[in-house]
Amino acid sequence: THLEPPFIISLRGSSCSSISYHHNMSSLTNPNVLVTGGAGYIGSHTVLKLLENGYDVTIIDNLCNSSETSMERVLKLAGLPSDSSRLTFHNVDICDRNGMEEVFKAATAPFKACIHFAGLKAVGESVKLPLKYYHNNLTGTFFLVELMQQYGCKKIVFSSSATVYGTAASPLTESSQVGVGVTNPYGRTKYFLEEILRDTTASDPDFGVILLRYFNPVGAHESGTIGEDPQGIPNNLMPYVQQVAVGRRDKLTVHGDDYDTPDGTGVRDYIHVVDLAAGHLAALRKLDIVSTGCNVYNLGTGNGYSVLDMVKAMRTASGSEIPYVVGPRREGDLGSCYANPKKAREELGWEAELGIERMCADAWRWQSNNPTGYKTE
Ligand code: UD1
Repeated sequence: THLEPPFIISLRGSSCSSISYHHNMSSLTNPNVLVTGGAGYIGSHTVLKLLENGYDVTIIDNLCNSSETSMERVLKLAGLPSDSSRLTFHNVDICDRNGMEEVFKAATAPFKACIHFAGLKAVGESVKLPLKYYHNNLTGTFFLVELMQQYGCKKIVFSSSATVYGTAASPLTESSQVGVGVTNPYGRTKYFLEEILRDTTASDPDFGVILLRYFNPVGAHESGTIGEDPQGIPNNLMPYVQQVAVGRRDKLTVHGDDYDTPDGTGVRDYIHVVDLAAGHLAALRKLDIVSTGCNVYNLGTGNGYSVLDMVKAMRTASGSEIPYVVGPRREGDLGSCYANPKKAREELGWEAELGIERMCADAWRWQSNNPTGYKTE
């Protein structure tokens, strides 16, 4: 069957339908990193960091929860022309094994490493459609890792989540218990994939894995041109709060105020997405030095903020009132969840630098400049 050549997005014209097709002409000197899910929220911020730091990037994304516009804007932010050969985009689903293989075949040199973001992540939907989640997140990763082994790319950074800690008590260290009390299929796909990747390193002495357990990513690039753009009603706190601030929704419902926390509302470790992106760069550098085995790092700040702390910080940043009502607890929620970030500081030389004022100011800049996200309504 005929498969389309890889293409590079073009900024020519104002509409994102202007796509120019090129054969892959990645630079001969820069290492090329494969980024699955690179058009998404965390992916786009990480791709920008990679381009700014001398990596070429090949993105695989099926755009099911992301937009081509993010890639156009990333190129602009990186100071690159719209047809730069340093960024190649393949509109491919990770569960399309043939399409994925074409990406590996089309690469001019083996990928230096892979950062694997692509996956479904809506907790509520995963409870309703568990097989969809297990199939997509697990099968897609099997295909990816098989192809990596076949084509000689043996380093992977995997997007895991603090959700793997289940009901373990905070502050969470990388040796805290995992897998117990994980309340939903989405969370279990992260836990299972951690174990599967660990088994892969045990079976292949050349295979190197870094598992990054994200706490609660928020904020946006300071330009306000890329950010989180959830489809439908946001599940997560900050996108919801931002949509209330911008007037897209009437009020926030606080899910419970009777937790054992200072103000009774849930406490989380919010981390600026730009800090999180920098954590991926640090992980890639680590994989260059310690290239085998499986290492795991928390990416959090170590600070816990409550729902009401976040509402207050967003009020200050946006000048909007942000009305809220208190509702019942949300099923599967914990009172407190925050990181001990020491291991990443000591071993990756990385730590979060941006506090909640910046998280909210940057989130607001993105939301107010793009009230309907990447879509123009
Ligand atoms: C959730 C998921 C987690 C996933 C993460 C990233 C659950 C149980 N956990 O984490 O598996 O990795 O998102 O996608 O869904 N809140 C409100 N009102 C809202 C929304 C949230 O009060 O409308 C509260 C929550 O009760 C919680 C805090 O805000 O205390 C943060 O919630 P959220 O942003 O959904 O993140 P997590 O629940 O930590």
